[in-house]
Amino acid sequence: MESVQINKHISYSRLIQGFWRAKDWQWTDQQLNYYLNSLVERGVTTMDHADIYGGYHCETLFGNALKLSPNLRNELQIITKCGIILPSTPYHERGHRYDHSAQHIRQSVERSLSNMNIEYLDSLLLHRPSPLMDPEEITETVKALVFEGKIKSFGVSNFDNEQFDLLNKRLMSEQLHITSNQLEISPYHLETIDNGVLSHMMKDDVKIMAWSPLAGGKLFDEKDEKSRRIMKVISSLAVKYDVSHSSIMIAWLSKLPAKIMPVLGTHRLERIDEAISGLNIELTQQEWFDVYTASLGHDIK
Ligand SMILES: NC(=O)c1ccc[n+]([C@@H]2O[C@H](COP(=O)([O-])OP(=O)(O)OC[C@H]3O[C@@H](n4cnc5c(N)ncnc54)[C@H](OP(=O)(O)O)[C@@H]3O)[C@@H](O)[C@H]2O)c1
Repeated sequence: MESVQINKHISYSRLIQGFWRAKDWQWTDQQLNYYLNSLVERGVTTMDHADIYGGYHCETLFGNALKLSPNLRNELQIITKCGIILPSTPYHERGHRYDHSAQHIRQSVERSLSNMNIEYLDSLLLHRPSPLMDPEEITETVKALVFEGKIKSFGVSNFDNEQFDLLNKRLMSEQLHITSNQLEISPYHLETIDNGVLSHMMKDDVKIMAWSPLAGGKLFDEKDEKSRRIMKVISSLAVKYDVSHSSIMIAWLSKLPAKIMPVLGTHRLERIDEAISGLNIELTQQEWFDVYTASLGHDIK
């Protein structure tokens, strides 16, 4: 599978596996280990986590499965995120806030490394922007974590252009930079395509990961009118290209020139294969816009 260069040392697989839902899969360590090995066989080597996934449990499930194949870590690129404190946090007296303080970022990284039983993260992302984030404090913390070899690169998620520039400017003064921005993008969610965030990231060669590329399964919800509209177009394309609906959704994302890396949430290998097929489909410009306008609910101007 094609890869995307993140920095001098790291490349990510064009498709990324997400672990947000991994607790719901209710797998044994052996089952998850089998899934991880099967992903790597298919070229999906980049894994996306967050400290909070599964109520702070998913990283540990992953770490336990990884232990069963000790050499597997060298074939993977592991991303995790920090910066959200859940209401039901086991680590703080009281929760529900963002926290980008040096103390929280450091504690979260140390816990993620320990949960997954690994020595370093390929990328640490700030999960969401916060009104209280201090670029100075974040930069000093990232600098120290890179120096200590605990993180190999740094990125953000759900940042708009101003939030991105504010932090990146300070990082660049220390020869660091934001390598990636993980955003919600799918045929259902067009916001970052239309609000200039994608173009801004491309301008600075920042790599884009698309979370919930199938809108978390919502596109398959026949009760949702917008989904029905989009799926009507996608269904006819699926017939034309003789592939599944999700292959077309991935083909649609891949046509964006930003070389987007979809972060898949499935736990079914057949759906991973469908996504891989989608990377090889070249929709026409008209077909891409047919899906886009179905999502908008009106024609282009
Ligand atoms: N940065 C952020 O703020 C943020 C936020 C949310 C998520 N994420 C990341 O993005 C990853 C993916 O998110 P996601 O799980 O929402 O991604 P998704 O790929 O859009 O949705 C996956 C869900 O859709 C279902 N699905 C897939 N194909 C289907 C079909 N043909 N019919 C019906 N249902 C279908 C899957 O079920 P099956 O398992 O049965 O296939 C799964 O429940 C997460 O794991 C996480 O790593 C990041």
